[in-house]
Amino acid sequence: METPRRVVLAAGAAMGAAAWATGCGGGDSSPEPSDTTGESRSKPPSTEPPSAATETGEPSASAGDGQRLAKTSEIPVGGGKIFDGPKVVVTQPTAGEFKAFSAVCTHQGCIVDKVADGTIDCPCHGSLFRISDASVARGPATRPLARRQITVTQDSILLV
Ligand code: FES
Repeated sequence: METPRRVVLAAGAAMGAAAWATGCGGGDSSPEPSDTTGESRSKPPSTEPPSAATETGEPSASAGDGQRLAKTSEIPVGGGKIFDGPKVVVTQPTAGEFKAFSAVCTHQGCIVDKVADGTIDCPCHGSLFRISDASVARGPATRPLARRQITVTQDSILLV
């Protein structure tokens, strides 16, 4: 009794294929091609360009490595600059040597607000951190600011 069942199944499949081919499905399902993968509704490949390229009109050949923070010329030698958005402070202890640290004070989490006289200063309780390595120059903080990774390419400083 297996043979007749197999024949019936085959015939049913053939009828389905025939109905499909002729467009006479008869049901109220839309006559879409069988798309079981769900991947055919792909849009044209329109990947957006990296946002770094739109920030300035400068060539951005190397700007894809990270978030552009500043030009190197914006960081004073023997000082630094605080970037509130990414909460980063970039220093230049000696000419051409750039360091980056978290701007979040290790004492109680305030954001440092000044770089002066060789230190990064916290306004909340007066902690001072050395611009060369963010070590504590004056408490109450006891731990240095966290290191942040930067890349310096030509005249740009990028946050990695
Ligand atoms: Fe910076 Fe207290 S939070 S000194």
